Amino acid sequence: AAPRSFEVDRQRGIFLLDGVPFRYVSGSIHYSRVPSPLWSDRLHKMRMSGLNAVQVYVPWNYHEPQPGVYNFQGNRDLVAFLKAAANEDLLVILRPGPYICAEWEMGGLPAWLLQNPEIVLRTSDPDFLAAVDSWFHVLMPMVQPWLYHNGGNIISVQVENEYGSYFACDFRYMRHLAGLFRALLGDQIFLFTTDGPRGFSCGTLQGLYSTVDFGPDDNMTEIFAMQQKYEPNGPLVNSEYYTGWLDYWGGNHSKWDTKTLANGLQNMLELGANVNMYMFHGGTNFGYWSGADFKKIYQPVTTSYDYDAPLSEAGDPTPKLLVIQSVISKFQELPLGPFPLPSPKMKFGPVTLKLAGDLLNFLNVLCPDEPIQSHLPLTFEAVKQDYGFLLYRTQLPQNLTKPTPLWVKNNGVRDRAYVMLDGVSQGILERDKDEALFMTGQAGSTLDVLLENMGRISFGYNISDFKGLIQPLVLGDVVLTDWLLFPLNIDALMDSSSGPAFYSATFQLPGPPWDTFLYLPGWTKGQVWINGFNLGRYWTRRGPQQSLYVPGPLLLPTGTPNIITLLELEHAPPRTQIQFLDRPLFNATLH
Ligand SMILES: *[C@@H]1O[C@H](CO)[C@@H](O)[C@H](O)[C@H]1NC(C)=O
Ligand SMILES: *[C@@H]1O[C@H](CO)[C@@H](O)[C@H](O)[C@H]1NC(C)=O
Ligand SMILES: *[C@@H]1O[C@H](CO)[C@@H](O)[C@H](O)[C@H]1NC(C)=O
Ligand SMILES: *[C@@H]1O[C@H](CO)[C@@H](O)[C@H](O)[C@H]1NC(C)=O
Ligand SMILES: *[C@@H]1O[C@H](CO)[C@@H](O)[C@H](O)[C@H]1NC(C)=O
Repeated sequence: AAPRSFEVDRQRGIFLLDGVPFRYVSGSIHYSRVPSPLWSDRLHKMRMSGLNAVQVYVPWNYHEPQPGVYNFQGNRDLVAFLKAAANEDLLVILRPGPYICAEWEMGGLPAWLLQNPEIVLRTSDPDFLAAVDSWFHVLMPMVQPWLYHNGGNIISVQVENEYGSYFACDFRYMRHLAGLFRALLGDQIFLFTTDGPRGFSCGTLQGLYSTVDFGPDDNMTEIFAMQQKYEPNGPLVNSEYYTGWLDYWGGNHSKWDTKTLANGLQNMLELGANVNMYMFHGGTNFGYWSGADFKKIYQPVTTSYDYDAPLSEAGDPTPKLLVIQSVISKFQELPLGPFPLPSPKMKFGPVTLKLAGDLLNFLNVLCPDEPIQSHLPLTFEAVKQDYGFLLYRTQLPQNLTKPTPLWVKNNGVRDRAYVMLDGVSQGILERDKDEALFMTGQAGSTLDVLLENMGRISFGYNISDFKGLIQPLVLGDVVLTDWLLFPLNIDALMDSSSGPAFYSATFQLPGPPWDTFLYLPGWTKGQVWINGFNLGRYWTRRGPQQSLYVPGPLLLPTGTPNIITLLELEHAPPRTQIQFLDRPLFNATLH
């Protein structure tokens, strides 16, 4: 038997690990969605569930915030994550993209790619390839020592992701990636692709092993037969067996049936298939990292990525986990020892927040540089504001004695615009709502339009999702011109200790810093920071998510004040209070 090798045995239609028949039962976890102090806890629970591998995406935009600037520290320490998996005796199936989907902002691609508005993403466009090449020349040398045959735990590496679902079908691009992966990782590593059952024709490439993804409601027999057309006599692999599903703002909370899931898993394992469960632990879209789908309309993803997965967002075993574990135990041995108990949760409050002031009062701090002048509005990308918020300001060109419609051509609001006239709120324009606001006012009044980027599209035909006012703003039939643009750096402000904020409070914990869930009753929509950490978006008024997961490690122990800051974008409740709960509230869609 070959020492330290992972190979296909076409004679028997199986994988071999070190020359011995091997099958993986794996689960997806995204290190970018779990605070790094909790990685080991989650990985341990995955191992104790009976998994022998984890499947992991590398989000490019998480590591290269600006061209040529790289971050592998703290929560971005990929090697520390690989080590943590190795400590739990877990093999790793690595999915470095460059595109990952994952319902992650722009499918993991850096927004700065769109600073070139002509770029054609995920194709052999030379500008796209140049950026990919530079990134992989940094990433792959870090990964290379971690390949299984080099002594590490990475048994396989995926090239691109569901490429067959993208419009371009550019084989030159896929061949370029395959060549690059080979050049940087060597010939020995097992490379593969993953596609939905309809994606094979554009997603697969000679020399890359074709795998498929499907859920419990799909016809396994039919879909595996399709995979085998591309991989005759090769092992069956479902790279994404869906354990649950994500939530969209304004959609219903997803809950998938455990019995169907367990039956499907059992059937696949009986066939000898290799299975990765997506997700095994979903985690949280902290900060501005949530992506969006586009199905006829723009559908932004909630902050929670609980996914109705076997391990909950807070890392606790669910009834679903126990059922899956018992299915796995029929096919391979479970590690000895007790399954860890759910982590303790705390409940306290209310905590009352104080109004610190309107956002417009803090413009000089939020945008310390001179605003950008432009005849017509520019996109976020054009002014190098990747995420968050951008304020557009101009003056009313004429007296409006009759209510006059304010609107944007061709659905050009990306994604929500909060409109103020001389500081007084006039209402909201939202993508795909095809609405106008009616305003009266005096010539020369200041018109402020705060644009919120709610996450770039992460899946579908076209992921070039430019943000901001991508079309001119029109008042009546007059195109508004002479804009000042204020890119707002709210996060830098939250990092500083002296930062003013919009609504804030300090509070002490009633006990040790346990996990808890922030509940914002009566608040509308905004962004929330705890001790400078961007916890993500809340949208209480729309749901279904009503509480935000607050991992214990973000909190300071009793005796040290914790600081919470809310940027409320619409309406604060009369009593500006918040609560901390000992369980999440996910299921309340308000229309
Ligand atoms: C699944 O597909 C196979 C092959 O096409 C077919 O024979 C079978 O009836 C299908 N099963 C279900 C439940 O639809
Ligand atoms: C959510 O559920 C309600 C009630 O079951 C249903 O009427 C509605 O169509 C669902 N909405 C979506 C977006 O699926
Ligand atoms: C959500 O709550 C409603 C009403 O409380 C209930 O009927 C529904 O089954 C719940 N849905 C999920 C997915 O839990
Ligand atoms: C707008 O109305 C004010 C009085 O309300 C008047 O003084 C001013 O001249 C008007 N400006 C224009 C541009 O019509
Ligand atoms: C994708 O969308 C962008 C803007 O939303 C547009 O400029 C571009 O032409 C679209 N590309 C394709 C291939 O449809």
